[in-house]
Amino acid sequence: MELPFAESYRIKMVENIRKSTRKEREEWIKKANYNLFSLKSDQVFIDLITDSGTGAMSDRQWSAMMLGDESYAGSSSYYKLEKAIQDILGFEHFMPTHQGRAAENVLFSVLVKEGNHIPGNSHFDTTKGHIEFRKALPVDLTIDIASDTQAYHPFKGNVDTEKLEKYMAEHANKVPFIIVTVTNNTAGGQPVSMECLRDVKKIAKKYSKPVLYDSARFAENAYFIKTREKGYENKTIKEIVKEMFSYADMMTMSSKKDAIVNIGGFIGMRSEELKRECATFNIMFEGYVTYGGMAGRDMNALAVGLDEGTEFEYLETRIKQVEYLGKKLTEFGIPFQSPAGGHAIFVDANKVLPNVPKEEFRAQTLAVELYLEAGIRGVEIGALLADRDPVTRENRYPKLELLRLAISRRTYTNNHMDVIAVALKNVFDRRDSITKGLKITWEAPIMRHFTAELDRA
Ligand code: F0G
Repeated sequence: MELPFAESYRIKMVENIRKSTRKEREEWIKKANYNLFSLKSDQVFIDLITDSGTGAMSDRQWSAMMLGDESYAGSSSYYKLEKAIQDILGFEHFMPTHQGRAAENVLFSVLVKEGNHIPGNSHFDTTKGHIEFRKALPVDLTIDIASDTQAYHPFKGNVDTEKLEKYMAEHANKVPFIIVTVTNNTAGGQPVSMECLRDVKKIAKKYSKPVLYDSARFAENAYFIKTREKGYENKTIKEIVKEMFSYADMMTMSSKKDAIVNIGGFIGMRSEELKRECATFNIMFEGYVTYGGMAGRDMNALAVGLDEGTEFEYLETRIKQVEYLGKKLTEFGIPFQSPAGGHAIFVDANKVLPNVPKEEFRAQTLAVELYLEAGIRGVEIGALLADRDPVTRENRYPKLELLRLAISRRTYTNNHMDVIAVALKNVFDRRDSITKGLKITWEAPIMRHFTAELDRA
């Protein structure tokens, strides 16, 4: 008999989590204005709001923390991290920042000007925010099939390179760089193929433009290349990662994802000149160039995390857990962005709650229902997050209304996945009775989903 699959680690330390009653949850969510970001963490049983900064560090990472060098300038932790970035990612230069959006802020302060266009594949919301804040335009050229949650494509996060070529032919003079997000979070944690990365680089080269990777989940992307793309079966994750980044000129990193640390980010680049330009903004916004808002101990843990995060056994354990949850949902007939993504399952709220008017935020309504059902906290990736058009101030309704269930790294067990699946099934089974959604009672002018206040419609 073939042995079943098991995790590539064992557990050395645990953290208690608390169950609650439906009555308690009804009070708490009302008090939180139906915004799950406003809940206290101890009001949540299984927290799927994000996989960012919520993973479990290893014993190796914790021991590296103890060796952190907290010198203001020239810390040995900085040089350890520099070496890890050079060895694993292949970028000669880097600039530490406190997290991913800070890397965007520093880099875009140098590169993005009013009126610029930044084509790519489904820019993440902070990326979009930093572009729009500078009165520039993010242009989403993700392949069309990504918006059909039931259609199969092994690399549903791809940039449509035909569209990109056409776009560049018309607008290249406005484009400072092309951005590729690996994996494509917004489209459902979907990977980008090596073929696509190669083609993007070719197009960029033709127009003499640099390529930036938003690399938060680059290692998960490499896992999918290894397991789905011909010619990569026998390569190691580290070999694949090296090739991926060989087609990029710069990277921004949220280390809180695939580098399995609780805080941290950086910019990787080949150009020394660009590093010099970034340094000024880094010093203004983040900290001196050899720590950029990170403690020395955090840079140490990050250096180890980059190594562990690019090991096949770890990635297999991680992605198989997400896949396991996906299989359970499929058994229950619950529609989600398929195939299952790298870091999360994205439930198709348009299909689960079609009776709720789209103006009443279907995915947010589903998020609230799932919380009430079992204390599980997911996150809306739909009309609430899509914000208003910066010019017309009209609500934007994206093609996809998704409830993201993000799985933290090395944190929950498959028993938790079973609870999530059954809780969602219970909501799904009573979907016909859910006809009313939510309305906004207060919202911020930009990135409203974090702080919006809502009420039952
Ligand atoms: N890029 C991508 C693709 C991301 O998913 C995130 C964060 C960022 C950039 C920004 O990084 O949080 O370190 O500042 N995503 C988190 C999420 C918040 O829940 O998906 P950050």
